[in-house]
Amino acid sequence: MCGIVGYIGYRKAAPTIFGCLKALEYRGYDSAGIATSHDGRITVKRDVGKIAEVHKKHDLEDLEGHAGIGHTRWATHGAPSQLNAHPLCDCTGRLAIVHNGVIENYMEIKHELLRKGHKFKSETDTEVAVHLIEENLKHGAGRKQASFEEAVRKAVARFRGNYAFAVLKAGEDKLVLARNGSPLVIGFGNPLSASGKGPHSRSAENEGNEMFAASDVPALLSHTRDFAFMEDGDLVVIDRRGARFEHEGRPIKRKRMHVSWTAKMAQKEGYPHFTIKEINEQILSIPAALRVDVGKAAKLMRGARHIHVIGCGTSYHACLVFRHLLARLAGREAEAWVASEYKEGAVVGPGTLVVAVSQSGETIDTMLAVKHARAHGAKVVAITNVVGSSLARGSDANIYIGAGPEVGVVATKTFTSQVAVLTKLALAVAGKKLAINGFSKKIKTVLALAPKMKEIAHSLRTTNDYFFIGRGLAAPVAMEGALKLKEIAYVHAEAYPAGELKHGPLSLIADGVPVIAIAPASGETHHKMLGNIKECKARGGKIMALSDSPHLLEEGKWKVAMPPVSEELSPLLYIIPLQLLAYYSCLERGHDPDKPRNLAKSVTVE
Ligand code: G6P
Repeated sequence: MCGIVGYIGYRKAAPTIFGCLKALEYRGYDSAGIATSHDGRITVKRDVGKIAEVHKKHDLEDLEGHAGIGHTRWATHGAPSQLNAHPLCDCTGRLAIVHNGVIENYMEIKHELLRKGHKFKSETDTEVAVHLIEENLKHGAGRKQASFEEAVRKAVARFRGNYAFAVLKAGEDKLVLARNGSPLVIGFGNPLSASGKGPHSRSAENEGNEMFAASDVPALLSHTRDFAFMEDGDLVVIDRRGARFEHEGRPIKRKRMHVSWTAKMAQKEGYPHFTIKEINEQILSIPAALRVDVGKAAKLMRGARHIHVIGCGTSYHACLVFRHLLARLAGREAEAWVASEYKEGAVVGPGTLVVAVSQSGETIDTMLAVKHARAHGAKVVAITNVVGSSLARGSDANIYIGAGPEVGVVATKTFTSQVAVLTKLALAVAGKKLAINGFSKKIKTVLALAPKMKEIAHSLRTTNDYFFIGRGLAAPVAMEGALKLKEIAYVHAEAYPAGELKHGPLSLIADGVPVIAIAPASGETHHKMLGNIKECKARGGKIMALSDSPHLLEEGKWKVAMPPVSEELSPLLYIIPLQLLAYYSCLERGHDPDKPRNLAKSVTVE
């Protein structure tokens, strides 16, 4: 979704912001822009399209000034267009704003401002914010003009909804930032060295410090690994001297944290795409996640009366794996919920433990479900990949899956790391230990299936309907495999617990329809899978069999031979060929796997 970058310091702001925006591209967007302040004036460049296209047209780096804001927009209110692209300005052109989120009561404020004579140029909800700040500036205490901070403070107090803002004002050597529900981090840059031998040489004109703001950590990793995380209700002023935090009007200190991620970890390192890099990284990320300590969460779970596990998209599929494992291994029941459905459907109270699964730790649907659960007395265990993320900060126990930055929009290595951690958790609740000897070798064997999956993707390059089936733990794996294919290859793919086929979808299995059957021999249900595969074959379905059982493999037109694996570890291995299938199917169709159309890595609007 929308990405925000802010900079103030001794470098030229525009090229610095431009670089950070490129590192934010993975969030998903349709237009981009930068505004800088120089010599008492604000200049804005923005347009529809990818950053590279906007840059080609407008030369985004060619803006003077040492303070600025940048934005990648994922359209909600108003189509992707130059006029709707951010930064947006007020009537005077002396204020510029970038925004992530939705101002729900913007219409009411807009009417008020129109009556006062403000002229609107875009269809966005955001534009009301910049005009309201302009209006507030006129009305300070007594007869005086309000200060920049005061005007922003007063404006955000009127907004309903979720937002993160960065605001720039001509003639002011500072940025004002505000957050409620949408992420915003503050980055501490490198001070100039006094000797002139440091990272940046000293000069009279630009000496001092530098400060950053961004929607998330990876955007700033090439400049800093030191961050402070804004909380909902925070307003922050950054200038060359540092950051001043206030919360609901009162000054407050926020902890400064050093993150272990490096800029190199968020680069392609020779791979053509982040997606394939991240699929291959599973050789290290899965064993690392299987070593994560889950002790505190397991204790909370043992003491809980009810367990709810919630997430969105891929994270929800990890929840489904967990529900199954917890029942089989620990004999405990967990309700699995798509986070956006939770508030309306779940019965939650003291005694409920909510396990919230989110790689980003910022997904608004998951955050709101957690807020709801907390308000009803539930305890929360957060399972995230991002240190300092909103979800991690507000939980009773927090498990970091430690997968390293995931830049590709579709979740690959974070899914397996979530599943690995949840497998450990289910075993810990059951008081059992995990046997993982030789598992790395098995991951390597499965990753080596890449040429085979590429070949299959090629033979299916003109096919647009797919079915994925599995039983037990393989059912959520089937769902995740189908989701990957939909997300990046843009084909129709449906997933069913195999037993459900004959209750409807079997009518769609006709000559040539590919059915991807996930059938590890370790599951108690693989004999039943054989029956389901036969049903499909009898109706002309073309089977792709993923199995370690020769009998099941025999049934496949395409045979994907898997190494033998224990039932509880099977989801970790069986998803990998399906990720590879989606990746190569995407390339066969000429799409970009890292930035699928319409999708965003971090979904911060409901
Ligand atoms: C978006 C992403 C998905 C992801 C989902 C949940 O839709 O495109 O890949 O699974 O959000 O994200 P989370 O960060 O909460 O795991």
